[in-house]
Amino acid sequence: MSFVEYSDEIADGDVAVVYLGRESTMAVKVRRGGRTQTRYGAVRHSADLIGRRYGAKVTCGKGGWVHVLHPTPELWTVTLPHRTQILYAADIAAVTLMLELKPGSVVCESGTGSGSLSHAILRSIAPTGHLHTVEFHQQRAEKAEEEFAEHRVAHLVTVRKRDVCKDGFGVTGAADAVFLDIPDPWEAVPHAKAALKARGGRVCSFSPCVEQVQRTCQALSDHNFEEIGTLEVVLRVHEVRTVSLPLPDFGPRVAPVPEAPPLPASDHAAAALKTTTPPRQMPAHTGYLTFATKPRT
Ligand SMILES: C[S@@+](CC[C@H](N)C(=O)[O-])C[C@H]1O[C@@H](n2cnc3c(N)ncnc32)[C@H](O)[C@@H]1O
Repeated sequence: MSFVEYSDEIADGDVAVVYLGRESTMAVKVRRGGRTQTRYGAVRHSADLIGRRYGAKVTCGKGGWVHVLHPTPELWTVTLPHRTQILYAADIAAVTLMLELKPGSVVCESGTGSGSLSHAILRSIAPTGHLHTVEFHQQRAEKAEEEFAEHRVAHLVTVRKRDVCKDGFGVTGAADAVFLDIPDPWEAVPHAKAALKARGGRVCSFSPCVEQVQRTCQALSDHNFEEIGTLEVVLRVHEVRTVSLPLPDFGPRVAPVPEAPPLPASDHAAAALKTTTPPRQMPAHTGYLTFATKPRT
């Protein structure tokens, strides 16, 4: 098991995702002799997990069942222990696409936070790329390092404990892309420029407030970045429902229509239709994503 390479079988030492439904997942460190409690009863690691195929349906102690899934960055984002605010799938998808990440890319990121985005970056740049991630909070940096090792992606990432605004990324002229998720990203813009390759690259900054965006755009412009633009990803999930629609009564037909088959009796009163409805409430604003390009120098 590794977060960047798929294995068929669950093995001792793996991190597996116990999936109880879309709203409920848990990451489990698989250990010979270990047990994990779920609301459906206990899962016994030796008997129920080790040697089984990822994706297996496992019956728990109380008779209910769960699926045991191979970890992915997407599942980790909805499972990870929160140490900070994190980025979710919709923003992550836009970031990895618009930064043009691919296998072999070298990326700088700050702050590491809970490592939600870091795992998606690592999957995109594996097996030959590298992530340099900077976090000034000692425990968060150490926890992220520990998780990268447990998830067997440590060879693809360097964690630096430092203030990115004062000390930069520790990388000069080597990065294809830079990502910022810190309160004062404009302070890190000169370091982002220094970290990017001389042939150019892309930068993205995530900020919840438009005042932060304005200062960041100004700093990007002052440092001769081009194609500066800000977007917001708003995810609107439509719900599919079956509704019963009353049919209007137009009275008796005046002239028979020979080709038209007679309506079944029930259809005179109501018709069952599939319809989609937008959500009445939705968590819309997460943050603004500001992208820019460093041109070739
Ligand atoms: C919102 S969290 C990042 C979340 C991350 N993108 C994720 O998806 O899990 C912001 C992190 O940046 C760190 N941070 C803030 N300012 C920083 C700085 N100047 N240098 C390094 N890290 C910083 C904070 O300690 C915090 O852990």
